[in-house]
Amino acid sequence: MDLRVAIFISGGGSNMVSLVTAMQEPDFGAVPALVLANSSDAGGLQKAATYGIPTAVVDHRPFKGDRAAFEASLQDALAPHDIDLICLAGFMRVLTAGFISQWEGRMMNIHPSLLPKYKGLHTHQRAIDAGDKVAGCSVHAVTAELDGGPLLGQTQVPVLPDDTAETLAARVLVEEHRLYPEVLRAFVTDLTPRSSNG
Ligand code: GRF
Repeated sequence: MDLRVAIFISGGGSNMVSLVTAMQEPDFGAVPALVLANSSDAGGLQKAATYGIPTAVVDHRPFKGDRAAFEASLQDALAPHDIDLICLAGFMRVLTAGFISQWEGRMMNIHPSLLPKYKGLHTHQRAIDAGDKVAGCSVHAVTAELDGGPLLGQTQVPVLPDDTAETLAARVLVEEHRLYPEVLRAFVTDLTPRSSNG
């Protein structure tokens, strides 16, 4: 049985597309069952629709900072889709321990830095400002600590002398699109019972 994956986005959804494309490969073992955004402006929603993937919007703004109520609505949106696994892919809302505990071991995130360096925002500028010679991206299991869960995969790229945050982000993003599907594939393979020959 294919794992049913929900992908959470806030923006253009290029990482979401890389996951969806990978899941279209035969025998991947997972299907994109839902793309959920926290704003109807998220460009990735249209892309998901072109793939025929169900979409949902749970706008955080009407909740005015009531994270528990926002997350209850997230759970309501997930419920009809029988979701096994959540992939956060550029989802720009911090989730609370309450929500995360309900998905422990079944939720991962991609972050554009070599964790544990540069948790949070502005990762590329921070790497440049620090004079780092390498930057990169990480996929990690989601725990209550922001960008702090166990690493599932990481890719490095060079930081070039004339890099801006934008040029570095573009170089890292190319690797994000390779890394996230690779980690998802490994995760799915680990969870899928193998048929026995004897
Ligand atoms: C990616 O760099 C992701 O790592 C970061 O936000 C960006 C989202 O890009 N957190 P996209 O929406 O997947 O195109």
